[in-house]
Amino acid sequence: ALTNGTGGAQLSIPQLGFGTYKIPDDQAQEAVTTALSVGYRHIDTAQMYGNEAGVGRAIATCGLARDDLFITSKLNNPNHRRDDALRSFDESMRALGLDVLDLFLVHWPLADSPGIDLAETWSTMIEILESGRVRAIGVSNHQPEHLRRIIEATGVTPAVNQIELHPRLIQSELRELHAELGIVTESWSPLGRGRMLEVPDVVEMAEQMGVSPAQVIIRWHLQHGLVVIPKSTHRERMSCNAEVLGFELSAEQMAALDALDRGERTGSHPDRVQV
Ligand code: A2P
Repeated sequence: ALTNGTGGAQLSIPQLGFGTYKIPDDQAQEAVTTALSVGYRHIDTAQMYGNEAGVGRAIATCGLARDDLFITSKLNNPNHRRDDALRSFDESMRALGLDVLDLFLVHWPLADSPGIDLAETWSTMIEILESGRVRAIGVSNHQPEHLRRIIEATGVTPAVNQIELHPRLIQSELRELHAELGIVTESWSPLGRGRMLEVPDVVEMAEQMGVSPAQVIIRWHLQHGLVVIPKSTHRERMSCNAEVLGFELSAEQMAALDALDRGERTGSHPDRVQV
C-alpha cells in the first residue's frame, strides 16, 4: 500500500511491475501490450525514456479497465523548475492518454545543480498531487539526506523511493530508513541489467530449485517486500519473470543472496547527476 499527501488515502501497488527503461518508443507499444497480455498490471515508464507515447498506445488498445492498471512515470532532470514540471507533467499525461496517473516520481535528486532546489521541486510535486491528477507521488534515486531535506521542508513523505537494488547492491541503509519513514522501496535494475543471471551462486540455486536465475532474483526481491520492475523485450522472459509464486526461497537462500552484496552499481550514482 502507498500513502502520502493530504487525504491520507491508501492505494495498492502491484508488487511486480514491468520496467520499460531503454525500450524505444517504436517498440514500447508492442512490449507493453505483450507484458499486459502475460499478466503484468503495473507499468513503469519515465519522461527520460522517451517512450510514454508508445506505452500510452498499449494502454489505449489493451482492452483492460483503467482501474486494473497501475501506471508510473517520472519527472525528467531538465524539468525540475515549477513551470517545466507542470508543463512536462501535462505532456506526459497527453502522451500516456491518461486523466489520472497512479504514481509520479522525481527521477533524480539533482542536489547540487545551481538554481534548482530539491524541496522546491518536491513542493511542485505536492501541487500536482493536490490537483487530483496523480494518486501518489514519490522519488527515485534519493539518498537519505535528500529524503530528510524534502520531508523536513514540506511535511510530506514520498510514497516510494525507486532505487537501484539487486543482490550486488542490497541498499541496507536506505531500506532501513524507508521502513522507519513508511516509504515503499522499489528496485530498479532488479536483475542488475541481466548481470545477476550469470553469478554462479545464483545459477546453482536456480538449478537446485528447478527455476530460472531470473526467477530466483525476482523472488528474492518479492520476499524482501520490495516492489520489483524487471524489464525484458522477449515474451517468454516477461512471462517467466512473472511466474514466481510457485516456489519459495528458504531463509538460508535469502541470506546467501544477501551475502552477494558488493555495493556494485550498474547505473549512475545519485550524487553525480547533472541536468
Ligand atoms: P531482454 O530485454 O533482451 O530480454 P534489469 O531489469 O535488471 O534492468 O535487467 C534487464 C536485462 O535483463 C535486459 O537486458 C533483459 O534482456 C535481461 N533479462 C530480463 N529477463 C531475463 C530473463 N528471464 N532471462 C535472461 N535475461 C533476461
